Amino acid sequence: MSESKRKVALVTGAGRGIGKATALVLGRRGFDVAVHDIDASTAVETVALVRKFGVEAESYAADVSDREAMHGVVATVESRFGQIDILINNAGISSDRCPVEKVTETMFQRSIGVHLAGTLWTTQAAIAGMKRRSFGSIVNLSSVQALVGWPEGATYNAAKGAVLALSKGWAKEFAPWNIRVNVVAPGHTETEMTVRNDPPELRAEKAKTIPLGRYAQPHEMGEAIAFLASDEASFITGQVLSPNGGFVIT
Ligand SMILES: NC(=O)c1ccc[n+]([C@@H]2O[C@H](COP(=O)([O-])OP(=O)(O)OC[C@H]3O[C@@H](n4cnc5c(N)ncnc54)[C@H](O)[C@@H]3O)[C@@H](O)[C@H]2O)c1
Repeated sequence: MSESKRKVALVTGAGRGIGKATALVLGRRGFDVAVHDIDASTAVETVALVRKFGVEAESYAADVSDREAMHGVVATVESRFGQIDILINNAGISSDRCPVEKVTETMFQRSIGVHLAGTLWTTQAAIAGMKRRSFGSIVNLSSVQALVGWPEGATYNAAKGAVLALSKGWAKEFAPWNIRVNVVAPGHTETEMTVRNDPPELRAEKAKTIPLGRYAQPHEMGEAIAFLASDEASFITGQVLSPNGGFVIT
């Protein structure tokens, strides 16, 4: 095991959508990328695309809500690449999209498990190595849903709101080790998550509520995430960046 000369990024949920786009932006910018997803085959596809940028990439399959599994992924990535400099906690599932009376224990456990516990366990596993090297940058994915009131999304709102609070606390907790923690809270982004749930007519209606008049493409989130993760953002920690086309302006 030797320390990589290039910076190493671990991106969770990088088999498709925003995570995949982020892995590609990071690869293009010269980072080695550990591509994680619950779906092994999509992670392998992302790896092949990232390697085209001439950097190293490997795939890792695990359920992000499984503490032991994610500690195992982090240990395997560290043994393969020598270190994790950048952690992108991106893996996610759809919002509940139902009134609170219909929320089930399974929905609650899945949403909290994937978004909140997944972010917690993966960070917990990666933080020891970052502290040892007094260097690290973590970007956690929240959502515009956590910034404005959003009906019929109780478990998603709760989990994404918790990710915001967790990140702000960690920004102060980890600062003495030169580890930065920031949040990207995407607005409407055209990924399988939104395309699967909303037919084209509904997406067109929703696009009218966005001042820029369209959904974001996943790479537009990837650029924002990669910026916060990179040394260009070296004095930025504890902040929330929401690329949302003007949907939320505070
Ligand atoms: N698309 C949007 O409009 C939007 C808006 C706000 C926030 N977000 C957030 O951005 C992140 C990425 O969303 P996306 O739109 O790319 O979604 P997506 O459904 O296209 O991709 C999510 C990825 O996460 C993986 N994943 C799901 N459950 C997992 C688990 N238990 N363990 C490991 N991997 C798992 C999936 O296999 C998939 O590859 C999520 O956290 C989502 O909540 C998305």
